[in-house]
Amino acid sequence: MNRFRKIAALTFLFYLIIISCFSKPLTNSGILSFVDKQYRFALKEIEKKQTEHKCLTNKIFPRSLMPNGELMLVAPEDWTSGFFPGSLWYLYENTNDLFWKRQAIKYTEILESQQFNTGNHDVGFMMYCSYGNGYRLTKSAHYKEVLIQSATSLCKRFNPKVGCIRSWDFNKEKWQYPVIIDNMMNLELLFWAFHETKDSSFYKIAVSHADKTLRNHFRDNGSCYHVIDYDSITGNARLKMTYQGYSDESSWARGQAWALYGFTFMYRETGDKKYLDQTEKIANFIFNNKNMPTDLVPFWDFDAPKIPNVPKDASAASVMASALLELATLDQSNTLKYNLLANKILLSLEKDYKSKLGENRGFLLKQSTGFLPWGAEINVPLNYADYYFMEALTRQKNNTKK
Ligand code: GLY
Repeated sequence: MNRFRKIAALTFLFYLIIISCFSKPLTNSGILSFVDKQYRFALKEIEKKQTEHKCLTNKIFPRSLMPNGELMLVAPEDWTSGFFPGSLWYLYENTNDLFWKRQAIKYTEILESQQFNTGNHDVGFMMYCSYGNGYRLTKSAHYKEVLIQSATSLCKRFNPKVGCIRSWDFNKEKWQYPVIIDNMMNLELLFWAFHETKDSSFYKIAVSHADKTLRNHFRDNGSCYHVIDYDSITGNARLKMTYQGYSDESSWARGQAWALYGFTFMYRETGDKKYLDQTEKIANFIFNNKNMPTDLVPFWDFDAPKIPNVPKDASAASVMASALLELATLDQSNTLKYNLLANKILLSLEKDYKSKLGENRGFLLKQSTGFLPWGAEINVPLNYADYYFMEALTRQKNNTKK
C-alpha cells in the first residue's frame, strides 16, 4: 500500500511537471491586461447599479451576482467588503497605473468606519485586504492608525478562558462560543499590528487562537471541521460541526483552503515547526484526495454526495493557490511540489474559469460556491475568488523574480 502510494505520488508529480513544461506559462502580462480591462468594465457596472438603486446608496462593493444575473453590491459592514478594494491594490501594484491607485484609495476609504466593528471576526478580512494592502504600498500613516484600531477591535472578541477570538454572535440558542476555521485568516492582521506596535498582546492572542484551533479543529487525516463551539465557562470544545459545508463530518472545500492559508502564515510569523507540519497534513489531505478533480479546482465540499455532478468552488482553489505559493517559499523540502500545484491551479483558473471580457459584471472568475446549504451563491463569481486569484498571481510573479 505504501509503495503504491509512493508510485502514485511520483506519477502525479511527474504529471504536474509535464503540465508545467508544456502548458503556456501563465504570463502575468497577458492576464493583467485582461484584469485591467475587466475591472474598468466592473467600475462601469458598479456605477450603473448604484444609479439604478439610488435608495441603496450604502451598497457599494461588488460581491457576486444575484440569481437573476444582476450585480450584487454590498455595504461596508459585509464580511466581503474589503476584497474588491484589495484586488484594486493588487492591480495597482502590478500595473503601476495611478488610475488604479485612485480607485483603490476610493474604495478602501469607504471602509474607514469598519475599524471600530466589533460585531464579528471578519474585521480582519475587511481591513487587512483593503487598508493592509494600501498600507503595504503607500505607507500612509493614517492607514496605519486605522489598521491598529481594526486589530484592537478584533482583540475585543478574544476570551482568555477559551483562548480564541469568537467568530459569530448569532445562533445563541445553539452555540455558546463558536469559532470557525475561517477565523484563522483574521490573525494575519494581528501579526501585522504586533510588528508595527511591538505590543506583544497581538502576537499572544494570534498564537493562542491558532494553538487552540490546531488542537480542536483538525481530524487525524488533516481535514478540518468548520465550526467548533466552545463552552464559554470551561473553554472545552462542546460541538464539532459545519455551517456552510455538506455535513458535520464532511470537509468543506473553502474551510480546508482557509486552514492551509492560515497555518502557512502562522509558520511564517512564528517559525514554529508544528504549524509547518500542519500545513503538510492539510496539503496532503487536499491534494491526495480521491475527490479532487484533475484540474485541482475542488468541488464545493470534498464529501458532497453525487460528486462529480456538484458545483465547484473556484474561490477555494484561489485561496489554495495563494497559500501554496507562500508555502513553497517556506518549506524548502516541498518547494517544487507546492509551486507546481499552485501553477497548475492558476492555469486551470485562467483557462476554464475566467470570465469572458465584458461578461459577469466585471468579475474575474466564474464558478465559485458561497453557501450551498442555504441555496445561496452557487456556481457564481465571488469577490474573494478574484482577490486571492490576484494575490496568487502577484505571489507567482514575485516567486519567479527571486
Ligand atoms: N468566511 C465565510 C466564507 O468563507 O464563506
